Amino acid sequence: MNPMPRRARTRRKFLQMLGVSPLIASSSVLAGGLADLLRAEPLQEEHFLGWLGTLQQQDDAIISAPDQALDVMDFEPAARKNIPPAHWGYLATGVDDDATVRANRDGYSHIQIRSRRLVDVTNIDMSRIIFGTKWDTPIVLSPVGAQKAFHPDGELGVARAAGKKGNLMMLSTVASASIEDALAARGGQVWQQLYPTNVWEVTRAIIKRAETAGSPAIVLTVDLHDGSNRETLFRAQRVDRRQCSLCHGGYSPFARGKTGATSASEGFAKYVARKPMFDGLDVSKVTQLHPLAMSWDLVKRLRDTITVKFLIKGIVTREDAELAVEHGVDGLVVSNHGGRAENTLRPTIESLQEVVEAVAGKLPVIVDGGVRRGTDIFKALALGAAAVGFGRPHSWGLGAFGQAGVEAVLEIYRRELRAIMRQAGTTSLDKITREYVIPRSS
Ligand SMILES: Cc1cc2nc3c(=O)[nH]c(=O)nc-3n(C[C@H](O)[C@H](O)[C@H](O)COP(=O)(O)O)c2cc1C
Repeated sequence: MNPMPRRARTRRKFLQMLGVSPLIASSSVLAGGLADLLRAEPLQEEHFLGWLGTLQQQDDAIISAPDQALDVMDFEPAARKNIPPAHWGYLATGVDDDATVRANRDGYSHIQIRSRRLVDVTNIDMSRIIFGTKWDTPIVLSPVGAQKAFHPDGELGVARAAGKKGNLMMLSTVASASIEDALAARGGQVWQQLYPTNVWEVTRAIIKRAETAGSPAIVLTVDLHDGSNRETLFRAQRVDRRQCSLCHGGYSPFARGKTGATSASEGFAKYVARKPMFDGLDVSKVTQLHPLAMSWDLVKRLRDTITVKFLIKGIVTREDAELAVEHGVDGLVVSNHGGRAENTLRPTIESLQEVVEAVAGKLPVIVDGGVRRGTDIFKALALGAAAVGFGRPHSWGLGAFGQAGVEAVLEIYRRELRAIMRQAGTTSLDKITREYVIPRSS
């Protein structure tokens, strides 16, 4: 068959789709779509048009205002529509085939709730005291790096939303806002997450800066080494036609082959230097955020250095939980980095149970990973979590509608938790015990 009439048809169809769908017309994936299409083999053309068709159908269902959302998942397509592909890839990606991202979510469906009846549930108290501070709910915003990549409001929009809704927030070491600004935006109570780096003076300076600013806790993340295989991110980067170096100042550890750094170590130092928490520090020797040499010796050193509360994030086993207690840590976050560390297939809700047993009430345990419903929060509380965190959903809210989207996400979690507490007959968090959950039999 002569390819020219076919290409003309394809071109016409593509232009029709652009005409009817604002989503497709505005999508930066499609900046060079037509040119590719005209060069493509017939099979690829069909694939591409099929994909466009799906995108167009999805467009009809995407919410256009925060109050249209029925659940936090509704913010995901709305954010995806706004966020450039490579940044979307950074947000969505797990490692390898993302199976642990799915496992985190799936873990909650293996637990059932045993509701009690005939309990007066007129008043529901969702408050929880952590390290002497009373929180309205046990719902926590886990740290997410570089949130200005999702919306100009960035971490400060998240912090304002957290302040307005009364939620605890953790700020990433590689956030696009400083701890001082985040504390001011939230009105206090932002915990500083810590990537330790390979240079002790830099690590110490970040801790002291956060303490001086008034952050009441430092949260050391231990579940990640550089170079995790983030395939979804790498695939998304391929379809993003923008030049990463224009915004990333010559280097991003996540942007494969598109930034033109002269050497990896020089590039890494430049990348770190652009992060507000590294302002004014000599970062010339910083080559790793997650040093390969990190061990319990670092925990000892940090315990001697940190004067506020000290938590470890990323613990998933009984053994490590026991060691953390021995090292005098004040709290734990059970986390697998939202399935972005290693592909274990093990949901954090399963890890939570052995960690809670190991610490035996000596310190508070927070869990995150795949928490998307009030019922998930309920189940985690029943299994001994002091509080429950989430990462991607506050970025979906942010990417979709800025600060207003984050507020709406927080409100939905709160509403859903209150609803299941009523339904299950539990009027306060301390009433949500193991008796209220049971493993699914099949
Ligand atoms: C885009 C993105 C960036 C993240 N950045 C950090 C970070 O800087 N520090 C950290 O300790 N965890 C980071 N995490 C992990 C989250 O704190 C949290 O553990 C995880 O997102 C929870 O899983 P969920 O996204 O399924 O809720 C990040 C997660 C995502 C999705």
